[in-house]
Amino acid sequence: MNDALARATAAVQAAAPRAQADPARPVFHVTAPAQWINDPNGPIFHKGVYHLFYQLHPFSDGSGPKYWGHVRSRDLAKWEHLPIALAPSGDAGEAEIWSGCCAINGNGEPMAFYTSIAPGKSAMHHAEQWAATSDDDLIAWRKVSPNPVLSEELHGGKKIYDWRDPFIFPEGKRTFMVLGGSLNESKGGQAVVNIYEAENAGLTKWKYRGVLFQLPDANARTAECPNFFKLGDEWVLFVSPYGKVQYFGGDFDAVTCRFRPRTRGLVDHGRNFYAPNTMLVPDGRRMVWGWVNGFPGGCGWNGCLSLPRVLSFSRDGQLRQNPAPQLSKLRGERVAWRNLRLDNDGKTLPLPWTSTLEIEAEIDLQSATRVSLGIKSGNNDAQVVVNFSGLELQVLDAKAPLSLAKGERRLKLRIFIDRSVLEVFANETVCITKTIVPLDAGAALEIRAEGGNAVVKRIQAWPMKTIW
Ligand code: FRU
Repeated sequence: MNDALARATAAVQAAAPRAQADPARPVFHVTAPAQWINDPNGPIFHKGVYHLFYQLHPFSDGSGPKYWGHVRSRDLAKWEHLPIALAPSGDAGEAEIWSGCCAINGNGEPMAFYTSIAPGKSAMHHAEQWAATSDDDLIAWRKVSPNPVLSEELHGGKKIYDWRDPFIFPEGKRTFMVLGGSLNESKGGQAVVNIYEAENAGLTKWKYRGVLFQLPDANARTAECPNFFKLGDEWVLFVSPYGKVQYFGGDFDAVTCRFRPRTRGLVDHGRNFYAPNTMLVPDGRRMVWGWVNGFPGGCGWNGCLSLPRVLSFSRDGQLRQNPAPQLSKLRGERVAWRNLRLDNDGKTLPLPWTSTLEIEAEIDLQSATRVSLGIKSGNNDAQVVVNFSGLELQVLDAKAPLSLAKGERRLKLRIFIDRSVLEVFANETVCITKTIVPLDAGAALEIRAEGGNAVVKRIQAWPMKTIW
């Protein structure tokens, strides 16, 4: 282990006892052993193992120079911490390792690609894309020689600000990379996703193919962490524009390297979900993890990754997201109720004795104009409030349009509460991630119908086990 990795590892280990004693720290979401984390990086399934990396600042629980932390899983339910994967090579002029991806090159070698930030330079004005290779366990990485593998000279005279976050995808026999950025320095409105094509099997030589797509938003400052992939017949682009994460669905022309979207939407309607990164899994499905942010500072840890979500695209052009089915392995003993009739009134149900829970509810709205769920413990106000009007879903202060098909009155909710993290999935189309005040043990769920009657077809809840 080199010096930079050894110092970072020691700093994380020293902070771990305090971080791990914090009752607000999530236990079934991926976190670092301690300290600050942000974006998920380089998710890849390789040789039977799911690997996830993440932006880590090893020296405090606030943001600072980034490294890549590493976890792995064999089943997407239980995870294991691995040594820090990538540290900046100070002697080669590197100060930070920013977000990126992993790919297997044409010689069968695992590679990590990331944005390298130099000491004392602003990331807005100067960045390079570097690569490293490893053997099949993805633990010991060696930076390739020569780095950078992509530099700003590729763009000729064109200046791209905030140029970062490589994501690689194949199309036919060709290999492409996308990188986010902006064509102007400060005005916004010219956020772009740039596209590059590999010129060798080792993925160390790249050609600029132009702007894949410019965001239509007049204010978009940049397009961080672009992910571009096929879901069924649809090409899907994810971008993080310093605001809620957007998706676009449409067509990709690999000859002209242009993307024409037909539909768009938000990946998550909460303000605490950002910079998602996706993984292709062996059965051909695509999963996504985002960075959950917005936790209070000073606890020895800050930030976690969202639950893995399985992505698909509906025929009407909407992104669908479901919690990974493997998460059911984390469930403990179930409590369940069926066919509860609500006549303009409410029912209170006792939840499992824990602050880590999954709740699944299927509600037939019938003539009610609104249903609400409130979860409350101790003397607190309800820490989780979900309201549905038939047209809009509201989770605490986050609102999302959610309409029902004609003749359809059913709302299906999956609610995950992991101490200070809340993730809500509604009718497979709306996701809302929020940070919350953790529940005390002995919480109760109050479910209520207004303006008419509703039937709770089924409601079940499970205590959730730790992923470690
Ligand atoms: C997104 C982001 C990325 C960057 C990384 C740095 O949250 O700003 O664009 O690579 O975080 O940690």
